[in-house]
Amino acid sequence: MKSLDINLTSNNYNIIIERDIFKNIGVEIKKIYKGSKIAIVTDKNLYALYGNKLKDILHYENYNISFIVVDPGEMSKSMENLTYIYTKLIEFGINRGDLILAFGGGVIGDLAGFAASTYLRGIDYIQVPTTLLAQIDSSIGGKVAINLPQGKNLAGSFYHPKKVIIDPNFLNSLPNKFIKDGLGEIIKYACIKNNSFFNKLLTIKSNTYFFENIEDIIYICCNIKKEIVEKDEKDYNIRMILNFGHTLGHAIEKYYNYERYTHGEAVSLGMYYITQKSEIHGYTQLGTANKIKEILLNYNIDYNFPKVNMSEIIKIIHLDKKNNSGNLNLILLNKIGDSIIKKLPVENLGKFLI
Ligand code: GLY
Repeated sequence: MKSLDINLTSNNYNIIIERDIFKNIGVEIKKIYKGSKIAIVTDKNLYALYGNKLKDILHYENYNISFIVVDPGEMSKSMENLTYIYTKLIEFGINRGDLILAFGGGVIGDLAGFAASTYLRGIDYIQVPTTLLAQIDSSIGGKVAINLPQGKNLAGSFYHPKKVIIDPNFLNSLPNKFIKDGLGEIIKYACIKNNSFFNKLLTIKSNTYFFENIEDIIYICCNIKKEIVEKDEKDYNIRMILNFGHTLGHAIEKYYNYERYTHGEAVSLGMYYITQKSEIHGYTQLGTANKIKEILLNYNIDYNFPKVNMSEIIKIIHLDKKNNSGNLNLILLNKIGDSIIKKLPVENLGKFLI
């Protein structure tokens, strides 16, 4: 078992990473939760795969549980589903001392976490992330949100779970596209913070070897995120480096209506493209973009920026909520493992990118 503690001023919590910890999930919950009711938010796919097993495990520990099941996919991070969850929580009689379990990928973590942060002004929740992306990124750090018709994550808060329980065996049932989704973010961590991790990732040449090392890989990513979040919980400065590749990545996702690329794939395109440009502008050690291309090739992740209307992409970036009083915080690399935040007036973005 690997374990990490996130130490924040208002909350401390533990992340555990262990293959097959799912079968002991009731015992793990019992360590921090003394109540009896648990509302489990999950999606239909996961419910079909793991619902009965989860029910048996939690009943064995005498928990009184109720499932709240939504459709899989980004569309579920909606106001309608939030209302549906509140209604189900009320029907089940969930009180302030009770618990929500977010059992799923990033969508479930964000939706259930936001419900937990607002229902009765906040009740405890535990994250059990089941996708690679959620296990290395979205389940930790306390960002929870729903989408509004005007854009992604526009209603949200910082609300940390009481515990994160990571079982890499869930990844066995994950389609390859969603493994690549997580891989894009894993490569991002190496790019922004850890050159030796980058080199280690380059040595991995097979799926088998990748999965043999998965506990270590998840641990290293969570540890990088922990160190960043502990320094800047609310995303005012250093936490922004986690957005390397995201300015373009988010824009590409939106440009294709979230249908062509997963988040991690879009971030991968963004990391390579922005690094090519930042080398040209003299911010990045020459050869860095090539290294990013090499690692993306190693994992069979597309690095070719699609032929898009760049002024459309720039327009989308202008509308992004992260633009702060006319400035954009662009995350660039000095070199692999070393990142910087460059403030750029939004009107200069076109010149930088084209
Ligand atoms: N996923 C970026 C962050 O949590 O800040």
